[in-house]
Amino acid sequence: MSEGKHIAIAGATGAVGIEMMKCLEERNFPVASIKLLASARSAGKTMTFNGKTIEVEELTHDSFEGVDIAFFSAGGGTSKEFAPSAAKAGAIVIDNSSAFRMDEDVPLIVPEVNPEAAKNTPKGIIANPNCTTIISLMALAPLHEKYGLKSIIASSYQAVSGSGQAGIEELNQQMDALVNNKEIEINCYPKQIVSNVIPHVDVFQEGGYTKEELKMLNESRKILGLTDLKVTCTCVRVPVMRSHSVSITAAFEKPISVEDARAAFAGKPGIKVVDSPEEELYPVPLDTTCKDDCLVGRIREDKVIDNALALWVVGDQVRKGAALNAVQIGEIL
Ligand code: A2P
Repeated sequence: MSEGKHIAIAGATGAVGIEMMKCLEERNFPVASIKLLASARSAGKTMTFNGKTIEVEELTHDSFEGVDIAFFSAGGGTSKEFAPSAAKAGAIVIDNSSAFRMDEDVPLIVPEVNPEAAKNTPKGIIANPNCTTIISLMALAPLHEKYGLKSIIASSYQAVSGSGQAGIEELNQQMDALVNNKEIEINCYPKQIVSNVIPHVDVFQEGGYTKEELKMLNESRKILGLTDLKVTCTCVRVPVMRSHSVSITAAFEKPISVEDARAAFAGKPGIKVVDSPEEELYPVPLDTTCKDDCLVGRIREDKVIDNALALWVVGDQVRKGAALNAVQIGEIL
């Protein structure tokens, strides 16, 4: 490994960090060296990258000397504390947390939608959007390009992977406890997640919306450059391991038919139509698990709002919703 970029992953031992390593390997990202960073708890553990055993180091302010690209997936507090040190050391930070997403000096990028935003990085930081927002915009951006998006009404069905390893472990524990008549432990979510759905993702804010729901509003506006876009959303946690689904009614400036939408999706990278009701074909979370592409189906003309379509979009939260999108931003750089 003599050519390529010097990479660091802060949060390498987490669900997204592990997936980032897989994406870098699979996509033959030009890696000259890689530093795997996590909390002091993980220092000294070993992980494998491209067949090489690498020791995990504790993340510190001095971790980034000589690093070209620093991927952060260790939570918002950690990003706030350490990302500026990485940028100061000369690295471009690609941050998966919400810490910098709404900072006007930090571009917020879905590579298929607004790659040009990567040209301007005054703080040396680029933000990776919220997972539900990325997956929704993968379907909405090709339609917006031709028909002008006016409003989004959405309900999400979000996998436990969105809460990192803690969410995945909680669903595993509760599934095992339910089947084997053991005690169900509740640590990660406000209520039992197995055999349940919880209309509460992230913390409640003013007006009764959650932070996750407001991310859909604010981040969609920023990525699409639509300051007046109307978005209302109910985000729901469901007992699914790692793919998010979103039910969307989207209204447009111009009239749009189901056939128009199918034509707009044709040939677009990262989004595929799976929509044959007569064959009972529509996307489900397991179809996108560990896959790069988002899938869209159930495309219908909305019966309530003019120039609007109802659709159902599904994508792997850990991959396109987080790790893959971050690695694709790295590829633009
Ligand atoms: P660790 O495994 O040592 O706790 P997930 O979102 O899947 O829970 O993963 C979170 C990732 O962020 C893990 O790699 C975790 O490391 C890392 N992490 C959490 N807190 C810190 C911290 N204060 N400093 C460095 N890494 C952290």
